[in-house]
Amino acid sequence: MSAHAAALLPAPRAALTRGTVDTPVPATDEVLVRVRAVAVNPVDWVIQGTSRITYRWLRTPAVLGSDVSGEVVAIGSDVTRFRVGQRVFGLATGTDRGRNPLREGAFQEYTTLLERLTAPTPDDLSDEQAAVFPLGLSTAACALFQPQHLGLRMPGDPAPTPDRGVVVIWGGSTSVGMNAVQLARAAGYDVVTTASARNAAIVRDLGADAVVDHRSPSAVAELVTAIGGRPVVGAVALGAGSTDACIDVLARTGGGRLAMASTPLSLDALVGRRRLFPAMLPVFTRIGLATLRSTLRARRRGIRAAFVWGSSLRDDEMGPRLWGEVVPRLLAEGSLRPAPDPLVVGDGLDALQGALDRQRAGVSAQKIVVRV
Ligand SMILES: NC(=O)c1ccc[n+]([C@@H]2O[C@H](COP(=O)([O-])OP(=O)(O)OC[C@H]3O[C@@H](n4cnc5c(N)ncnc54)[C@H](OP(=O)(O)O)[C@@H]3O)[C@@H](O)[C@H]2O)c1
Repeated sequence: MSAHAAALLPAPRAALTRGTVDTPVPATDEVLVRVRAVAVNPVDWVIQGTSRITYRWLRTPAVLGSDVSGEVVAIGSDVTRFRVGQRVFGLATGTDRGRNPLREGAFQEYTTLLERLTAPTPDDLSDEQAAVFPLGLSTAACALFQPQHLGLRMPGDPAPTPDRGVVVIWGGSTSVGMNAVQLARAAGYDVVTTASARNAAIVRDLGADAVVDHRSPSAVAELVTAIGGRPVVGAVALGAGSTDACIDVLARTGGGRLAMASTPLSLDALVGRRRLFPAMLPVFTRIGLATLRSTLRARRRGIRAAFVWGSSLRDDEMGPRLWGEVVPRLLAEGSLRPAPDPLVVGDGLDALQGALDRQRAGVSAQKIVVRV
């Protein structure tokens, strides 16, 4: 068996270190990919800093990372959509419960991707651009299209009524938000969203018809005005304070469903602490109480609210449809563009710890990318 280099999380809360792991043989429904670029998501540093509590199933050493682009070097016996040598990008789900983080993590030279969560990289996209898509795009699609969330029609589905309907996306300048804006537009909905003033034009260019600053004290009222009496089909809540703000918008515009993607408090402060205990106790108590309070507020207003899990599309019908049909078609049509722009912060696996730290320090309409 051959081996390759990986950025390993050697133990919970330890720094990523370079190590060697066995190069897997792809299972029947997998492709083996030589990774060329990876992108960083908040969940990567959350897992690194808090997995003893938040990802209790994760055994170390582990390879983190969800966002992969590269080229196919081997295919499983049932794979029909890809061939060796083809450039692809896809969602690595190795840190999920029941998966194998050493085979399926992104931050290494070779990883396996499920055929159903992989798409061909168009010739006009670089590996760095393709790497910005996987988790942001998948989470946006789960929020918008899964029946347990907004349950909207997907791009390509016939529109049942002449009413387009409005989707509210709080956090349109986040990575998930930029993908949600594009997917909702491509499915034929109008989009009202939030972004800071410096990112408003970017989000408008992706398809939002109104953009409000999420820091404005009157942001909720401004969104309600922008909706202007049109029917609202639901809201996607991204970022601190987004859940309650979305509940307020939905309550004032006739209800709808709410897909929540963010914890009410960032885990950032905990990750930076030298010791997790006992600092985690008040943080998780506040998260639990705030979530309970928001869920009850939503219920009292007739709003169905649920948390999104961005890789849950691995196990439903929407995932293969998104990655197999919708994404290749929207990319070819030009109605899906890589967003946010990649910010390449380094080359090689040794750059990954710095990349995680850079993401945690905060980004604004940028996706942190490392070339591998
Ligand atoms: N549940 C899941 O499966 C899942 C998956 C992926 C992400 N997430 C969560 O979804 C959220 C977004 O993740 P991401 O990777 O897309 O984030 P990101 O790209 O790192 O987010 C950065 C952006 O957040 C925006 N922002 C800051 N404060 C905000 C606020 N209060 N309300 C709305 N936007 C705000 C900033 O916009 P401006 O610079 O324009 O102010 C900035 O551009 C995070 O909470 C993340 O943990 C959840």
